[in-house]
Amino acid sequence: MRLRNKVAVVTGGASGIGKAIAAAYVQEGARVVLVDIDERKGKDAAAEIGAEGEAVCLRADVTDSASVNQMAQEVDRRFGRIDILVNNVGVRITKPFLEHTDADWNIMIATNLTGPFFCARAVTPFMIRGGSGRIINTASIASFVGRPNRVAYVSAKSGLLGMTRALAIDLGGTGITVNAIAPGSINSPMNASQAADADHDWGKETPVGRWGTPEDIANAALFLALDASSYITGAELKVDGGWVSTKARAGELA
Ligand SMILES: NC(=O)c1ccc[n+]([C@@H]2O[C@H](COP(=O)([O-])OP(=O)(O)OC[C@H]3O[C@@H](n4cnc5c(N)ncnc54)[C@H](O)[C@@H]3O)[C@@H](O)[C@H]2O)c1
Repeated sequence: MRLRNKVAVVTGGASGIGKAIAAAYVQEGARVVLVDIDERKGKDAAAEIGAEGEAVCLRADVTDSASVNQMAQEVDRRFGRIDILVNNVGVRITKPFLEHTDADWNIMIATNLTGPFFCARAVTPFMIRGGSGRIINTASIASFVGRPNRVAYVSAKSGLLGMTRALAIDLGGTGITVNAIAPGSINSPMNASQAADADHDWGKETPVGRWGTPEDIANAALFLALDASSYITGAELKVDGGWVSTKARAGELA
């Protein structure tokens, strides 16, 4: 029970990676707020993960600062503290560069970059009041390398690493650490079509030789949330089965 008495906010907690992180935190004794735009799915996920009071869902849209500020106030009102924020919401548009519309670009930046900024800004005063905190941003392998047909997603996820480093400095000395996790190919709803595509098996492109699971990411998010991680800040942890390090293709490993 390494997170006993902690209160965690996990955005995008209704699905995939966020849901797995929320479940891992509950298992370690935290009370967890799943923040999601899809309230129905969020409530179902909360009920699946923990008993009433261990996991709850609050609806908020991370692209809307008023909605995010209200969410943080509500978490503090209900639980009296906020110790951990996992900025995990993310959406991905995949299409050729010249087909990206203004709306495509704006939604990628608003959701994947501005949202984490709004959420961090909203919870930080409560963490400062408590004397410590953990902000964990879900970046991507697309934060490190260009990926085809994802110009807006790659731009936003690269920016999220910059924000991680800058916030680590600005919050230095407050007891709050700010780090990023960069998942590789994770078998979550976001990748449902690719995971089913035997001709383009991303798992085979990965040195470890398999797709990652949401639980692989949750293990890293647990580590960064612990008191024992207090000397780690401004860091990025790739959880990608080695994909970025080698850029290996099928057959090249032998
Ligand atoms: N799945 C992967 O392979 C992979 C790889 C690298 C990075 N990531 C990143 O991991 C994170 C989680 O990915 P996932 O695969 O679990 O995604 P997912 O699609 O399963 O879940 C995303 C959740 O975010 C919620 N959401 C979307 N827009 C929102 C908004 N404006 N406000 C509040 N909630 C909103 C959705 O309702 C959903 O529950 C994302 O940031 C994604 O970019 C995923």
